[in-house]
Amino acid sequence: MRRSVFLGCGSYLPDKILTNDDLAKDLDTSDEWISKRTGIRQRHIAAEGQFTSDLGVEASKVAIANAGITLDEIDLIVLATVTPDNTFPSTATHIQSKLGVKRGAAFDVQAACSGFIYALNSVDNMIRLGQANKALLVGAETFSRIVDWEDRSTCVLFGDGAGAVVLGAEDNIGSNEDRGVLSTHIHSDGDYYKLLWTNGGPSTNGQAGYIEMDGADVFKHAVLRMAETVQESLAENDLDISDIDWLVPHQANIRIMDSVAKKLSIDKSKVVVTVDQHANTSAATIPMALADAQSRQCFSSGDLISLTAMGGGFTWGSALIRW
Ligand code: ACO
Repeated sequence: MRRSVFLGCGSYLPDKILTNDDLAKDLDTSDEWISKRTGIRQRHIAAEGQFTSDLGVEASKVAIANAGITLDEIDLIVLATVTPDNTFPSTATHIQSKLGVKRGAAFDVQAACSGFIYALNSVDNMIRLGQANKALLVGAETFSRIVDWEDRSTCVLFGDGAGAVVLGAEDNIGSNEDRGVLSTHIHSDGDYYKLLWTNGGPSTNGQAGYIEMDGADVFKHAVLRMAETVQESLAENDLDISDIDWLVPHQANIRIMDSVAKKLSIDKSKVVVTVDQHANTSAATIPMALADAQSRQCFSSGDLISLTAMGGGFTWGSALIRW
């Protein structure tokens, strides 16, 4: 059975750090309020003239070097983002050109904070079908450009950053002991469209708009849906909660992650947490967390890693990976 295996990971954060105390200088908020309710201590902000593609390129360079492959081996680039450089063409094509990749296909996937899982689903299926052999999968966002910096209920939650992984095809026996992506699961329910959205867009008012959300409802659904889809992925592969070595959830809020872990009876020590350092970077949080955990040598060969995310749409999903 042909499977997609992780060959390398990388991440990139812009230089500028904005701490909670920095925010409190111009906004009626405090480090205590933000860190207690979200676990966030700081976020990174892209420099003027630094675009989502630039962040994605930097993360990709690290992932490609980490994978030990050459640029001409890459035959697919998929970028998960809701903050593209331009309405079109896809920012993935911008990344392709900036990296100097001359072949294959590049496209964007838009599923808000679930974007990386959705993109992984596409890439994994294309690799399994033999349509790609070595794929670059990127999550990159410049959320600082779509938050209303006067709205304390949303702007404190987000940041800019990018993560990337290189996936390659490997022939395996088709058991749940195989290395690579065991399965991916994606869902959406558009009835929740306006619970987490931007109040603008190219076809509505010609502007990107700003983020608006119902925080309490998002919180509740995030916990339920992420826990549910982790269970779904385990059932699909005849595995159990106790088989999970690492849970890498979308990094939106430490309280959401803690609640998911509690609901699943997963010990907190198995949960990869980076939200304190870079806040919610939407589609970038999972590849950034993977790169962070890998650089700290958390993962060992054969570890079972569960990825899960929930975001605007609502969208949600999971992936089960054997490292
Ligand atoms: N600083 C200080 N006070 C604030 C701030 C702030 N930044 N923001 C809101 N408040 C105030 C509110 O105005 C309110 O004041 P009031 O009681 O006088 O009306 C009070 O704090 C409590 O507000 P709540 O909204 O009830 O606070 P809550 O404890 O629910 O926490 C939060 C809000 C952190 C947004 C929470 O609902 C949450 O984490 N939701 C999930 C949202 C999320 O993570 N979204 C990211 C995108 S989705 C995803 O990635 C899964």
